Amino acid sequence: MAMSSALPLPQPIALNLLGSERSREALEGVAMELEDSLFPLLREVNIGIDPRSVFEDCDWALLIGAKPRGPGMERGDLLEQNGKIFVEQGKALNEVADKNCKVLVVGNPCNTNTLIAMANAPGLAKENFHALTRLDENRAKCQLALKSGVFYSTVTNVTIWGNHSTTQVPDFVNARINNMPATEVISDREWLENEFAPCVATRGGALIKKWGRSSAASTAVSIADAIKALVTPTEPGDWFSSAVSTDGNPYGIEEGLVFSMPLRSKGDGGWEFVEDVIIDDWLRGKIKASEDELKKERDCVMHLMGMAGGSCE
Ligand code: LMR
Repeated sequence: MAMSSALPLPQPIALNLLGSERSREALEGVAMELEDSLFPLLREVNIGIDPRSVFEDCDWALLIGAKPRGPGMERGDLLEQNGKIFVEQGKALNEVADKNCKVLVVGNPCNTNTLIAMANAPGLAKENFHALTRLDENRAKCQLALKSGVFYSTVTNVTIWGNHSTTQVPDFVNARINNMPATEVISDREWLENEFAPCVATRGGALIKKWGRSSAASTAVSIADAIKALVTPTEPGDWFSSAVSTDGNPYGIEEGLVFSMPLRSKGDGGWEFVEDVIIDDWLRGKIKASEDELKKERDCVMHLMGMAGGSCE
């Protein structure tokens, strides 16, 4: 999906929906629903199957489509098959998108797909590529609010570190509830480490098991939240999570990966790393495990990034 808009909000938008020949009918149905919803800022819905026309001059590209993992498929199969989609989309963005285009990758495995798209779009700034971990952040906020009996808007400073996978690290060490450390409001560290963190990290899979399909409504909300976080100035003292290039990060994470970290935005679509976070031994160990997983994923897809080597087949 590509969006053309200038900032700041409230800003009318035109949506270009990218599908395939096989999904054209379904895409027409989605376009009909969008039109019938009378969204106040939606001015145009266009559909197409050629990324070079759909992405033309777009300001935001939301890369949502990717194959879900089927029975018997290995992680490597998903990386290889979906990775190819992001080679093509990265190249198309490089050729026709606005040079300041922001790219938000949702299709899984989203961190590594982002790395692939980024490598294939050298004309776009690396900083403008994101993989969606806002859904995980929202899940973490919800669980902390439920446990402490507060409304979720009072839960702030929540970071998701790492991969959008079960190795992700929901950070309760730096989180705040009603402006107090979450670890003071919820003093049960055993619950935080062994129930809260795994619950958030496995929530996507748990939902698929119950519902038979991937999260949809909460993902859509989190995409809107992720965009809003970049186009509005971050509240003083707070931050948000997004998976971005690790180049120049202050946390000691290997460069050349796409890793979820705490960011602040000035509201112009750009962002900066948050410097003053505490990384205790628990966080350090978990962050390292997610980093190791992403290094392995990257090593599998080197060939899709235009480099020698790399295959998980
Ligand atoms: C989610 O977190 O809900 C999804 O990314 C899960 C999935 O694999 O579709």
